[in-house]
Amino acid sequence: VTIKPFEWKNRQLFILDQTKLPHESHYELCPGLTDVFNAIKTLKVRGAPLIGIVAAYGILVALLEKNGKRAGEMKKIITEAGKFLISARPTAVNLEWAVRRMMEKAKSLDKALTSDRFFLEMEKEAVAVLREDLAMSGRIGKFGSALIKNRMSILTHCNAGGLATSGLGTALSPVYHAKEQGKKVTVYADETRPLLQGARLTCYELLQAGIKTVLICDSMAGTVIKQGKVDMVIVGADRIAANGDTANKIGTFPVAVLAYRFKVPFYVAAPASTFDLTTKEGKDIPIEERDPSEVRMFAGIKTAPENVDVFNPAFDVTDHELITAFITDRGIIKPPFKVNLARYLK
Ligand code: MRU
Repeated sequence: VTIKPFEWKNRQLFILDQTKLPHESHYELCPGLTDVFNAIKTLKVRGAPLIGIVAAYGILVALLEKNGKRAGEMKKIITEAGKFLISARPTAVNLEWAVRRMMEKAKSLDKALTSDRFFLEMEKEAVAVLREDLAMSGRIGKFGSALIKNRMSILTHCNAGGLATSGLGTALSPVYHAKEQGKKVTVYADETRPLLQGARLTCYELLQAGIKTVLICDSMAGTVIKQGKVDMVIVGADRIAANGDTANKIGTFPVAVLAYRFKVPFYVAAPASTFDLTTKEGKDIPIEERDPSEVRMFAGIKTAPENVDVFNPAFDVTDHELITAFITDRGIIKPPFKVNLARYLK
């Protein structure tokens, strides 16, 4: 997969506007901090690891925009920009993780550094965040692909592929690796209402990679699983609590219930930056609620009465009992999750 969800070129941040995919591949310049914030908020860039990485570069954008002259001044700019970026979306812990990492780096730098040197050090940290994510998604692919046998069918929800990370993704990375190993795989992609990340993004990137893909409406997952068409489910995650409860795109939880009912293994693929041991369990995970217009209309076309009440949570929580295992960059983690996740994150 060669799609680049963003680019950092000559100290400028360009993001691939994912709201325009699959029809248009348009890179947009984010000249200021507010542009980076808006790109994250409006889902031009989305997917838990990717919003973290882009926010790390967003810190660099803020430094250039606000043009701090001394290290002390630059540290202040970073703290303020960081808080602002974290407030763009509450559920994916990767956003906060990456921004906090940039803040820690800034804190550790010598106050006597020139502004140029200070910037270069911060840029190095953003590159490190990017490179580590790239490596993690590669390892997730390696471990996850061992679970996939020739001719297996995998169901996924939302987009946890290359468009959601810096590399091959989380949930889709094992699929890409399996294909590389010569295995024939089929992916059932839930369309993912209301914003259709499954239909628009997952299908787009899987087809580009030459992987057999079958698009289904979310409401069809029950039938497809009951008919025995699915060998395993692999999804990504936005935040995983200490007991294994997992927040991911709205509609993931019902798929987990279905998989449990029909004894289909349900895997969650995620890098270390998605695990949040400070959150004890699922009910403590903040769930983003988005604008009602996303449900009342699609692509500018009204699909419901204008004044109907709407409930639009962007994520749901899958109880850990429904999860077979986590596919991580350090291997497959099986229950009991409380003990094993703590060990993994040590
Ligand atoms: O609202 P989105 O599109 O950012 O939601 C994305 C998801 O829910 C993904 O499954 C998750 O972030 C994992 S991406 C590797």
